[in-house]
Amino acid sequence: MTKILVTGATGNIGRMTLKHLLKRRPASDLAGLARDPAKAADLVAEGIEIRQGDYFDYDGLVRAFEGIEKVMLVSATAFTDRNSQHQNVISAARQASVKHIVYMPIIHEEGSAFTLPDITGQDLFVEDQLKASGLAFTLVRHPPFIESLPFYIGSKALERGIHVPAGAGKAGFASRSDLAEAHAVVLSEAGHEYKTYALYGDPAVSFADVAQILSDTSGKPVPFVAGSDQDYITHLMAEGLPEPVARFALGWVHGINAGEWSGSTGDLENLLGRKPMTTAEFLRAYYTARQA
Ligand SMILES: NC(=O)c1ccc[n+]([C@@H]2O[C@H](COP(=O)([O-])OP(=O)(O)OC[C@H]3O[C@@H](n4cnc5c(N)ncnc54)[C@H](OP(=O)(O)O)[C@@H]3O)[C@@H](O)[C@H]2O)c1
Repeated sequence: MTKILVTGATGNIGRMTLKHLLKRRPASDLAGLARDPAKAADLVAEGIEIRQGDYFDYDGLVRAFEGIEKVMLVSATAFTDRNSQHQNVISAARQASVKHIVYMPIIHEEGSAFTLPDITGQDLFVEDQLKASGLAFTLVRHPPFIESLPFYIGSKALERGIHVPAGAGKAGFASRSDLAEAHAVVLSEAGHEYKTYALYGDPAVSFADVAQILSDTSGKPVPFVAGSDQDYITHLMAEGLPEPVARFALGWVHGINAGEWSGSTGDLENLLGRKPMTTAEFLRAYYTARQA
């Protein structure tokens, strides 16, 4: 029996990874890490053991990892000293004799000069720490989440159009659920040690493509309007976002426009054994539900 622990069990990706694991492994093989186990009552009800732990509490992590063979490390939130948290998890896992860590860095193609503040450098730090740790590891690199698109284009995109800085780059967005299912495959099967996957969705789309999809979905023209960076910030702030959050979104939009996530590996489809959700499918479902 291999015991698998998923961190971030109270968040989107961690919870979905555990739910997909439940379809492949008995609940007794699974555990989740939570800062507040009460928030994971639904998983406990499914028979999953929830262990208390905080990425900042090294000793608590060592205790939580006791008897665990594989750890899925859900990346820590941006701008919360990610390096200390990730380092704690890796060191505690080694001390607790965990054998294998799966980590989800953002995709950063070899040679790319693009960086996201507090993401890219911190993810590369984890990769270096894992390589130096002596532990087996797997990197399941993520593209931007499909579910982040409404955040990038603002809540009134259907009415106002897509207002983003100019650029024609495309991104292979993937849904959290598909990414989590791919995690579950990697965690529950043998043979993924020391492998790196780039979990691109397919097909990649640009913001002009998103405008076209929304036009087709709504039956009325949704224009693509290229503006300046400042126009974009002003627009998101007018919707109530604090300026640092609007600037963070701008960083992602720059990456998409620069084609940072426009690659295609087939890794996600291969791991899932089926086509992943497309951006068009997501947008149709999201905006149809909102119009209903
Ligand atoms: N690829 C993308 O487009 C994209 C977009 C956004 C984020 N991300 C990254 O993906 C990660 C997972 O996304 P998500 O949607 O699942 O995020 P989420 O719903 O916010 O979940 C984050 C999880 O991490 C836990 N956590 C945070 N700080 C912790 C700490 N100090 N110790 C232990 N657990 C801690 C949270 O616990 P609590 O419930 O206690 O808060 C929660 O369970 C994010 O954290 C971020 O690094 C990627």
